[in-house]
Amino acid sequence: MTRGGRVHTGGVWTPLTSFIGRAAAESELTRLLGICRLVTVTGPGGVGKTRLAAEVVRQTAGRFPDGVWFIELGAIVAAADVPAEVMSALDVPQDPGKPALDGLAEALAARRLLLVLDNCEHVLPAVAELCGVLLDRADDVRVLATSREPLGISGEKRYRLAPLDLPSPADSEPDALRSSAAAALFTERAHQADPRFVVRPADAPLINHVVTRLDGMPLAIELAAARVEALGLAGLADRIDDALRLLTSRGTMAADRHRSLAAVADWSYQLLTVAEQRVFRRLAVFPGAFTLDAAEAVAGPDAGPAVVRLVNCSLLVPPRTGADQRTRYTMLETLRAYGLDRLRDAGEEHEAAAALAAYASPRLERTLDPGQLRAAQERGAGMTAAAAAELAIMTTASAPGKACAPGKLLSSRERELVILVAQGHTNAQIAERLHISVRTVASHLDRIRDKTGHRRRADLTRLALEESLV
Ligand SMILES: Nc1ncnc2c1ncn2[C@@H]1O[C@H](COP(=O)(O)OP(=O)(O)OP(=O)(O)O)[C@@H](O)[C@H]1O
Ligand SMILES: [Mg+2]
Repeated sequence: MTRGGRVHTGGVWTPLTSFIGRAAAESELTRLLGICRLVTVTGPGGVGKTRLAAEVVRQTAGRFPDGVWFIELGAIVAAADVPAEVMSALDVPQDPGKPALDGLAEALAARRLLLVLDNCEHVLPAVAELCGVLLDRADDVRVLATSREPLGISGEKRYRLAPLDLPSPADSEPDALRSSAAAALFTERAHQADPRFVVRPADAPLINHVVTRLDGMPLAIELAAARVEALGLAGLADRIDDALRLLTSRGTMAADRHRSLAAVADWSYQLLTVAEQRVFRRLAVFPGAFTLDAAEAVAGPDAGPAVVRLVNCSLLVPPRTGADQRTRYTMLETLRAYGLDRLRDAGEEHEAAAALAAYASPRLERTLDPGQLRAAQERGAGMTAAAAAELAIMTTASAPGKACAPGKLLSSRERELVILVAQGHTNAQIAERLHISVRTVASHLDRIRDKTGHRRRADLTRLALEESLV
């Protein structure tokens, strides 16, 4: 589940970095998913909820014959879009004459699948309502949610995720450090940032100090480890103290674990050049993954080198290549919230939103019907970052699972079909490849025609090329 891919089927997600510790949490969640229909992993931003859910999904995928669907809700702006997002991910057609949740419950009533709803906190009531309906009416559907807060509905089993294990204060021997997941994560990421980094006996107390000061929070540890090459371990340990002191002296009231993360985010930001800071905060307007083109449109034509540096500092997730072969970057939710604060502080919110809207408009013209387009134009350049984000979702350069197409957005399955048509496959060959019947292929093609106005193979091929699907 790249943060760049919002929808994954089959539960297969291959992260680019190693997964550390969490054996107990994994086995407990696996057990809970065997006995409960709705399990919510809760914990502060950056504690590792999404990452853990992805690993658990990999372990349990075999139990769900109708698949595992990983749906990233972090990019959704309006709560009202939650049912549509889930339906589109699951390829459930929307019936305009029926409430969306009814359609979804009916479609899933006979399916044995796991729905992973990731990053629910900002659309909690809508997710709670959706889960309530599914628990009631789709007996074989199970849900694994990640959220900073629980959904608060009956039948929910909450699993509070704690930060990674810290070394005990007396553990200053390198061997002893290895038994701490927090220390192991730091060492591993520091080595990734600087291949010359090795732990010498004298380093153990410093590592102990750093990870303890960061409360064992994985995101904070990753950000700190990314600085080891520039600062050395001793310099890093000193600066961590400074960063925390600075934040405390500013009277920041955040809870401890938020505080350590806020401190380290702030600190990483302050260490960027002014130009890189500008690129970072502007990229926070993207609600999902974005291509380099999109980054340049919002952050300036010379954003490329800053993007590379942001990846090196762990302020952006390492890039992923989507099914369309385009590289996409993502900012983790916690850092995005931090970036949007900096964007507001800099008074650049409207400018960045307008740049995003301008980038999005030509695509919008092809993806919205005239009424929607007029409404979008009326909002114009004065739109808020949230509105621009909404547009960005609709036009999404961000979701490899979806494609922009004239008319309406295509579902991931429809997009897959367009690609196969463009590659010259016949309906029978497509049916064989996708393990579906020829009739289902034909009905997908009907839906594609309704959405795009195209039926002829040549037109679909041109569409695939225009939309960079192939
Ligand atoms: N056990 C782990 N091993 C290795 N890396 C981890 C682990 N847990 C978390 N991370 C890394 O820490 C970062 C933050 O993790 P993650 O995105 O899962 O946090 P989160 O709790 O979902 O945050 P948010 O509430 O902001 O969505 C990611 O880069 C993730 O890969
Ligand atoms: Mg998350």
